[in-house]
Amino acid sequence: MARAFAPLERLAFGGAMQRCRVRFLDRVVGARRALTVGEGDGRFLLALLRAAPGAQVTVVDASARMLELARCRLEREAPDWLARVEFVQGDLSAVALQRGAFDLVATCFFLDCFEGDSLTEIVEGLDAAAAPEATWIVADFHRPPSGWRSLHARAWLALLYAFFGVTTGSSARRLEDPAPRLEARGWHRTATHDERAGLLHSEVWHRAAR
Ligand SMILES: C[S@@+](CC[C@H](N)C(=O)[O-])C[C@H]1O[C@@H](n2cnc3c(N)ncnc32)[C@H](O)[C@@H]1O
Repeated sequence: MARAFAPLERLAFGGAMQRCRVRFLDRVVGARRALTVGEGDGRFLLALLRAAPGAQVTVVDASARMLELARCRLEREAPDWLARVEFVQGDLSAVALQRGAFDLVATCFFLDCFEGDSLTEIVEGLDAAAAPEATWIVADFHRPPSGWRSLHARAWLALLYAFFGVTTGSSARRLEDPAPRLEARGWHRTATHDERAGLLHSEVWHRAAR
């Protein structure tokens, strides 16, 4: 799936997913230590390195193939920036992240891979890795609360979860909104952006010092 992901994405949504990924990068220009999890093929990583020139970035992905694609993209397009990046292959739940270390956390189309207790554990792990006053960029699928937009999203989500369940073995069967879990840990949403009638969604969250 790793190589097919970007072409399929363009076929289904044109440039809308990438617009969601990068929509709020202008707010993290001063980031010093960033964490991007479930990075995929490196399109977000490249944009992040460009947007936050002082940031060291830790990239975690369970897929060796995805990490290889991301590394190759950097080697091809911005080899000088490779020194700013640490690639870590592994399941997030098994990766030892330094507590309170990252002033920027980014999850692009990653939290939608989890539901229930798994989603709770993922949010807890990332919350623990975030610095006391951190920013969290979330780009993801989304289901608007009502009306035709909700029905439209429901049809797409049924298709997408069936497709990814078969092709990647993902155990998530439905989209769960991560917002209550972030709010419960003191995060506040400060901006949102929608594409494709709200099916694609981007958010910025901040956490004040505890
Ligand atoms: C749907 S893809 C999204 C990729 C990319 N962020 C994007 O915006 O297109 C989910 C990514 O998360 C990775 N992933 C899934 N479960 C993971 C886990 N438990 N730990 C780390 N990475 C994981 C997959 O390998 C894949 O690269």
